[in-house]
Amino acid sequence: MSPAPHSSPALGRVHRGDCLDLLSRTPSGSVHLAFADPPFNIGYDYDTYDDRRSADDYLAWSRRWMGEIKRVLRDDGTFWLAIGDEYAAELKVIATRELGLTCRSWVVWYYTFGVNCKQKFSRSHAHLFHFVKDPAAFTFNVDAIRVPSARELVYGDKRANAAGRLPDDTWILRPQDLPEGFESDGDTWYFPRVCGTFKERSGWHGCQMPEQLLGRIIRACSHEGDTVLDPFGGSGTTLAVAKKLGRSFLGFELSEAYAARIDERLACIKPGDRLDGAAEPLKSVPATKNGRRRAKAATKTSRRRAL
Ligand SMILES: C[S@@+](CC[C@H](N)C(=O)[O-])C[C@H]1O[C@@H](n2cnc3c(N)ncnc32)[C@H](O)[C@@H]1O
Repeated sequence: MSPAPHSSPALGRVHRGDCLDLLSRTPSGSVHLAFADPPFNIGYDYDTYDDRRSADDYLAWSRRWMGEIKRVLRDDGTFWLAIGDEYAAELKVIATRELGLTCRSWVVWYYTFGVNCKQKFSRSHAHLFHFVKDPAAFTFNVDAIRVPSARELVYGDKRANAAGRLPDDTWILRPQDLPEGFESDGDTWYFPRVCGTFKERSGWHGCQMPEQLLGRIIRACSHEGDTVLDPFGGSGTTLAVAKKLGRSFLGFELSEAYAARIDERLACIKPGDRLDGAAEPLKSVPATKNGRRRAKAATKTSRRRAL
């Protein structure tokens, strides 16, 4: 599953290996959109990777792989980074001040079904940084990601734009809390985590992201046929969504077992397939495996170390 030594990794698949090695073999300026959800250095239990490094080591490593992401991006390319509270500030400074990327949005992904804490507030968010290489030239397809406005959903106002509005920069998809709490054109985004009972959940990787979240990013920041890269494949969500949306794609994953499961996931997908999860979560909730609409709390495999 790894490319031959020294050859550049082929498109349309996941490659097993260390992303630093695989990135070094990826041609400069060849990627339109990179999405990275790296290990958060919080002691999460991956099958191969050790998620307990010293802070200095983790930051030095992050600087290296993010530098490689910048190199492989086209001049008009985009880089999205998903990261937890622990290193969000440091990685943003590295990306902007050291690597020279421009931060277009600092999106907060508000999710439900996080780990329930007893002696502090339960974490229910992650950070999504939207960086571009050139602040004057980048892809942002507004019409591909419009959402219904509060004017339409709450007030039933006939003046609401039927085409919807640009999402806020807090992303939220929790039906019971909406839409009063969040403006639909801001920067807090709500999507539920892919919890244990959801039909969407693959079940073998605890960090699986929702397809709808990746759908918004890929639709907004790339065109059909563009190349989408994910250096930390995990369960393969980025690659699966890129394939469904007719993008060219390329993924890396350290774990042999995870990479094999990504291969299986991709083999079942055709371009044009629907994304899993509720496309419009303000109006519906995700289907569960057994068809019920109720969802139970997250399973043991969630990022419990984030307590
Ligand atoms: C947080 S998970 C990604 C989850 C993914 N976004 C999803 O939706 O399933 C991070 C992944 O990075 C992988 N990983 C860790 N170090 C890596 C490296 N140096 N190169 C490639 N993959 C690595 C881990 O094995 C893990 O599967």
